[in-house]
Amino acid sequence: MTIFAIESSCDDTAAAVVEDGRKVLSSVVASQVFRHVEFGGVVPEIAGRMHCEAISGVVKEALAQARTDIRDVDAVAVTAYPGLIGSLLVGVNFAKGLALTAGKPLIPVHHLRGHIAANYISHPELEPPFLCLVVSGGHSHIVEVNDYTSMRIIGRTRDDAAGEAFDKTARTMGLPYPGGVHMDKLAEGGNPDAFSFPVPKVSGSPYDFSFSGLKTAVINTIHNMQQKGLALPREDMAASVRQSVVNILTDRFLLAANDFGHKKLVLAGGVSANSLLRRRMSELCADRGLALYYPDLSLCGDNAAMIGAQGYFEFLKGNTADMSLNARAERSIEL
Ligand code: KG4
Ligand code: ZN
Repeated sequence: MTIFAIESSCDDTAAAVVEDGRKVLSSVVASQVFRHVEFGGVVPEIAGRMHCEAISGVVKEALAQARTDIRDVDAVAVTAYPGLIGSLLVGVNFAKGLALTAGKPLIPVHHLRGHIAANYISHPELEPPFLCLVVSGGHSHIVEVNDYTSMRIIGRTRDDAAGEAFDKTARTMGLPYPGGVHMDKLAEGGNPDAFSFPVPKVSGSPYDFSFSGLKTAVINTIHNMQQKGLALPREDMAASVRQSVVNILTDRFLLAANDFGHKKLVLAGGVSANSLLRRRMSELCADRGLALYYPDLSLCGDNAAMIGAQGYFEFLKGNTADMSLNARAERSIEL
């Protein structure tokens, strides 16, 4: 079964053709980051307008690269939630138009379920059940993936998402948006023990995260150094922040894996590209005899191939929509 997929939830306009949920026939991503970088973050109105300008070109390119036509695919999948509403609406409406004119089923896909499904592409043998750490710019969850379309949230962030924690601290250090990837590169040359930051305890749930204390501590440290006229050792700061974020994530994730008896662990979302998170999790899982999966780097960030992959499993479950489908800025991954 061949699915044509569209993703436009944030600042990437993307389209892809995916076969049977695992094989990518084409994947095109048009990033808008060059427009948002001057503002230090995504400007929602600009994002919506840029999707509007880019989407037909991206769709045509994805069909051309897969050497197919919209009439020859079996269904149209689209990210319908969660995300920036003005961005989502562009993709959803375009997908509805395609499905209507070509007479194809329409499949709404949850963006974070898509991030998880990136792993089905990178690891054709991977099947649920497993425990997944979903870490993106807007969300941080520990999710029990019982089946392709059945999920339960075990832990979540109480404040900022992991990607947001990276982006906000990176901004304080003067790094360009999106800061996570720049921080990761800078950190490779630094001493992770140069600065120590508080490790938050979240009362009530041992599996929840909190990053706001870390963010405040980093901002205060940098301001104190500035006031004293001290030069900021940027590589050391980046390495220390990265280590703190990764420690918080790995501690909670492994605790949940142990307590809920999961032996198969999966990373997903933009932050799963983080080199220390990948390295640390690989070491920790090897020590504990746990299986670990994470997506190819090219599939960690937002793309439509992952939406086509998840769309296939949603379709098999009968999760299609009619022409009344609307986008939603918020929706739980549990659906
Ligand atoms: O999943 P994603 O592409 O978009 C959302 O759904 O939010 O995630 C974007 C986030 C950004 O916060 C970005 O800084 C972060 O992923 N990110 C990274 C790395 N690459 C992207 N964070 C840490 N290390 C990286 N290598
Ligand atoms: Zn994403």
